[in-house]
Amino acid sequence: MEQTQVERKKRLFSGIQPTGTLTLGNYIGALRNFKLLEDQYDCLFSVVDLHALTVRQDPAQLRKNCLKVMSLFLAVGLDPDKSLIYFQSHVSGHAELGWILDCITYMGELSRMTQFKDKSARHADNINAGLFTYPSLMAADILLYQSDMVPIGADQKQHLELARNLAERFNSVYGETFVVPDGYFPKVGARIMSLQEPTRKMSKSDPEDTYIALLDEPNIIRKKLRRAQTDCDNSVVFDPENKPGISNLMSIFSAVTGKNMDEITAEYDGRGYGAFKDAVADAVIAELEPIQARYAKISADKAYLAEVMTKNAERANALAQRTLLKVRRKVGLAALKL
Ligand code: TYM
Repeated sequence: MEQTQVERKKRLFSGIQPTGTLTLGNYIGALRNFKLLEDQYDCLFSVVDLHALTVRQDPAQLRKNCLKVMSLFLAVGLDPDKSLIYFQSHVSGHAELGWILDCITYMGELSRMTQFKDKSARHADNINAGLFTYPSLMAADILLYQSDMVPIGADQKQHLELARNLAERFNSVYGETFVVPDGYFPKVGARIMSLQEPTRKMSKSDPEDTYIALLDEPNIIRKKLRRAQTDCDNSVVFDPENKPGISNLMSIFSAVTGKNMDEITAEYDGRGYGAFKDAVADAVIAELEPIQARYAKISADKAYLAEVMTKNAERANALAQRTLLKVRRKVGLAALKL
């Protein structure tokens, strides 16, 4: 972490919300890439608990979910001695920079965000200001650490675009301050779809049979995949527009096995959907079982989790302060010592 400017690796930031259980979509779209990129970049992975407050949460459950997501970060193999793995709320700079960015974000930009439109339709009784300004807090998460790279699924592309625009706007008003970040999207699986409605993204807020949770038991994974919606022509061919169900299963299979679509078609076409769904289940179970075994151990070790949480929050805070000092000065906030 403490290398000189010249030899410093590029910085990577990503976050996952601790709302409910994580899905195979979160894993293929984001978490799996965190592990693949960890050695190449100087990384921060955050459990973005402040974001979770935009939807009403049960406080005790939220606390549990935060530890659950941190345990999953560690269970996929992220190394807390190498990367900073911490809770967003433990670094108050996120909220502070979020406010400053709110003040250069236009209402029109926020109104166009599809996640805001979706979530306000789903939680019509609680369309709060936090839900609206969520994207500028997300921009703050990224810009606070001068991040170069942000691995995310396709659903976060619009938010990343806003973060880039805000960085450029701030730099042009106040002078060069922020790195303008790039997104990293997986080649296959940037948008894993619902198993029951394959034209919608797989989401933890939908009914249980529409998603695979990372901690689902093997027999549940197999059952959900067998029941996944597919068309009735029985050909294993990648055609997301006309055959969204089977194409989604092919994306999942491709992401976890590394096989490309032509190889999958050559191997499974003509053998029927049943055989292919079983092969997808075998591959997903083989991928998730070792993670689940590590999760069981890590999540039971509260002392270890507490140590990771505290140590990494301190280090993240120190990094955040560097950017904040600069930002406060640029926007004209007086230093504490005049
Ligand atoms: P969240 O918590 O909804 O999802 C975490 C990550 O999982 C990806 N993802 C998917 N990828 C493929 N297919 C799917 N069906 C699928 N569902 C979710 C998301 O794209 C995301 O990468 N706003 C973010 C959290 C966040 C963040 C950040 C991310 C807050 N600050 C700064 C990056 C950088 C969110 O709600 O993700």
